[in-house]
Amino acid sequence: MEGYRLNLLLSREQISSIVRHLADQISKDYSGRELVLVCILKGAFMFLSDLVRHLRIPVQVDFVRLASYGSGMKTSGKIEITKDIEISLEKKDVLIIEDIIDSGRTLQFLKDRLALSKPRSVKVCALLDKKARREVEMEADYLGTEVEDIFIVGYGIDFNENYRHLPEIYYVTPIDHPKG
Ligand code: IMP
Ligand code: MG
Repeated sequence: MEGYRLNLLLSREQISSIVRHLADQISKDYSGRELVLVCILKGAFMFLSDLVRHLRIPVQVDFVRLASYGSGMKTSGKIEITKDIEISLEKKDVLIIEDIIDSGRTLQFLKDRLALSKPRSVKVCALLDKKARREVEMEADYLGTEVEDIFIVGYGIDFNENYRHLPEIYYVTPIDHPKG
């Protein structure tokens, strides 16, 4: 897209090491449990697919898609489910797989919503966390890495549906055009 520059934030190797570390922790903590990973579409699809390949425990996988009004760089307050879970969560341990925590509103909404299905537990695994932008109380139980208040793309994460395919993670900055 014109007027923007992509700057490398995390290489493939850095992402891979973060994902392996998370998979290790999750494999230990949920050993012997009935774990369901609930992936938030679309942004977490690549993270989910890498994460499951490194787990050493059996899991079930399901997907939700959430719509929040407003596009581009900001999540608005109102959130809706446009694709719901399809497998039963009753008495199971649920781990939500999310790309980025920003205001925290998406996860707050989804945790409350999934709790209605009577799971044994609901926890959160997020690849990235912009703690400085939090508007509601929300902590990831498993976190890849904290990032500053920058706009991220790549590795499943988009800017108006672009850049999801990139295997690395970048942050977007505007290109300054010199006068004249
Ligand atoms: P929250 O509800 O404000 O926490 O928003 C979380 C959602 O906003 C994430 O699942 C992303 O889809 C989106 N989001 C937040 N920050 C970024 C970003 O830097 N790049 C792309 N999407 C983002
Ligand atoms: Mg998202």
